[in-house]
Amino acid sequence: MKKLRVGIIGAGQIVEVTHMPNYMKNSDVVETLSIIDVNLDRAKYMAEKFNIPHYFSSYEEMFKHVELDAVSVCTPNKFHAEAVIAALNNGCHVLCEKPPAISKSEAERMTEAAKKNNKILTYNFHFRQSEEVQAIKRFIDAGEFGEVYSVKVQALRRRGIPGWGVFTNKDIQGGGPLIDIGVHMLDTALYLMGYPEVDYVSAVTYDKIGKKGGVGLMGGWDPKKFTVEDSAFGFIRFKNGASMILETAFALNMKDRSLMNVNLFGEKAGATVFPPVIYTEKHGSLIDMELPFLAEVDKHSRSIKSFIDACLGNEDLLCTADQGLIVQKIVDAFYESAETGQSVKL
Ligand SMILES: NC(=O)c1ccc[n+]([C@@H]2O[C@H](COP(=O)([O-])OP(=O)(O)OC[C@H]3O[C@@H](n4cnc5c(N)ncnc54)[C@H](O)[C@@H]3O)[C@@H](O)[C@H]2O)c1
Repeated sequence: MKKLRVGIIGAGQIVEVTHMPNYMKNSDVVETLSIIDVNLDRAKYMAEKFNIPHYFSSYEEMFKHVELDAVSVCTPNKFHAEAVIAALNNGCHVLCEKPPAISKSEAERMTEAAKKNNKILTYNFHFRQSEEVQAIKRFIDAGEFGEVYSVKVQALRRRGIPGWGVFTNKDIQGGGPLIDIGVHMLDTALYLMGYPEVDYVSAVTYDKIGKKGGVGLMGGWDPKKFTVEDSAFGFIRFKNGASMILETAFALNMKDRSLMNVNLFGEKAGATVFPPVIYTEKHGSLIDMELPFLAEVDKHSRSIKSFIDACLGNEDLLCTADQGLIVQKIVDAFYESAETGQSVKL
């Protein structure tokens, strides 16, 4: 059987710890032929480490010299759009790291390029691949929750400002915790709700701690280079009447070190997802149902495997380009609402 010929754009830590090990795990059906990075030494190091035959400093060179079927785009956020569109226009399916891009207009162009070229474009929202999410989804799909009318989403760290790389640089990342970790729980919640249409978003952002400096639980950071929000809080109303409260922070004076969770409130039952507990009423009693025996799975591994399978035509993708675009529209609306002080209609 012909193997899926894969290329990598951006050779940073996410490629080293997840994309490449997982492509190698599937070497019966995948061969990684090329890797590029603006830092050629980094591309060379990764090519040698993972036995990749070609490395370059630009994707233009890669597409000129190597024939590929699929590409992982793993650059900093600002460079996702141009790389994704180039890969799609060169006839490749694309797995792009999250978030889709740094603006709605970029994500729209990416979605259009996927449609025009009839290629797969998906995003690595790997939390939805967890057993916790999949188990709760089965309960929702079976009607056990009734209508899920409200959701509370949290992606919060007490002092988890990533000081390495470019995570505190607004120009390159497009924002802070909302676009970096908030999007994971936002996608998880939307996925569980069935991606309802958004009516409007109202939000505020703050930078009260990141710009001052202080204790870091994920290493130190340079407050002078901190140009993103350190927390964001918002309300989303959906056209079907459902609502969502989203709270996200790199730094917040709160009890826990970290909180990544989705709380669902339905007519017949509610739930927390991480860990999964269902709250309901049965036979005259209020009960909490735990799901204690779910398998521990490698979510990234599942995400990359599902991309490979979709490229080979074996499985429907879990995350679509259109869903990524909705996440990006919500992120844009959060930042616009925070800046203008007005609600933003989508
Ligand atoms: N799914 C997840 O949970 C997860 C986790 C970590 C990172 N990410 C995402 O992965 C992406 C990369 O993050 P990372 O942690 O690997 O960052 P990183 O800083 O370790 O690596 C980025 C690499 O891209 C290279 N690069 C920069 N500009 C480029 C360009 N224009 N063309 C090609 N290469 C370029 C850099 O030289 C660097 O080697 C980001 O979008 C981030 O949000 C996702």
